[in-house]
Amino acid sequence: MLSYRHAFHAGNFADVCKHATLVMLLRALLRKEKPFFYLDTHAGAGRYDLGSEIAKKTLEFEAGIGRLWDSANVPNEVADYLSVIRHFNTNGRLRYYPGSPALTQHLLRPDDRMVLCEMHSNEFPRLKQLFSGDRRVQVHNQNGYQGLSAFLPPRERRGLVFIDPSYEVKQEYHQVVEGVKTAYRRWPTGIYAIWYPILQSRGTEPFGKGFQKSGIRKILRAEMVVDKNSQGMQGAGMVIINPPWQLKESLESLLPWLTTTLGVAESHCKVEWLVEE
Ligand SMILES: C[S@@+](CC[C@H](N)C(=O)[O-])C[C@H]1O[C@@H](n2cnc3c(N)ncnc32)[C@H](O)[C@@H]1O
Repeated sequence: MLSYRHAFHAGNFADVCKHATLVMLLRALLRKEKPFFYLDTHAGAGRYDLGSEIAKKTLEFEAGIGRLWDSANVPNEVADYLSVIRHFNTNGRLRYYPGSPALTQHLLRPDDRMVLCEMHSNEFPRLKQLFSGDRRVQVHNQNGYQGLSAFLPPRERRGLVFIDPSYEVKQEYHQVVEGVKTAYRRWPTGIYAIWYPILQSRGTEPFGKGFQKSGIRKILRAEMVVDKNSQGMQGAGMVIINPPWQLKESLESLLPWLTTTLGVAESHCKVEWLVEE
């Protein structure tokens, strides 16, 4: 039984970091004319209304996308991400926040392809409805970890696997590493982006070590802590396998700015190779 609903958290600091990185990854894929494949193993509801009762309960977006919305003089990476979010808010007021599926759909070209997995009984029908009629998108009420075997390798032979679990149980960190190892054996040339929270209660080093011992090469890690005093989520990180050319440099430009802008207490960030080529 899944209890996590992303609508409570949509647009928070972790989403900003995650989705700004996602935009950079998609831009890299868009540099070549050849179509690409995108698999979202934990898709959520697809798009969120920040005016809904559920979003108003936590107001987490105010300390995330809300802080950036009116910023001027932002780094190029932030400007690009904001231009995508603005597409969903054409009257200039921040109201809708695209999840990873809607954001990616906005950037897909006619021959690119997207597969979404979502298991939650509330979120799946919303997702299905949102993408009905778009022949580039397949929506599955399926376990995303099974999707890593079912949909890989893709016929396009280039693309991105986005893994964004809710980590409701501690074992999920282990499950992610094992799932990625299976996926990588099937498709070693794909790009994999894995999001994870930095919690007061759990160190992230075992997670990093799990990837370091996986036998996979070319693994980048980017982390940002915004509130060292938080009893809950202090920050967020991404593990990126086979990062595109210059992604590390772009993250080194993006993260310090985001950390300063969204930071609350003892904020800091790092971008480093977990495993080099
Ligand atoms: C953090 S949210 C995803 C947010 C989304 N990727 C975004 O960026 O907008 C995680 C989602 O994964 C779903 N979920 C949890 N376990 C799953 C599994 N094993 N397979 C597929 N979906 C799962 C949850 O219901 C939740 O909607």
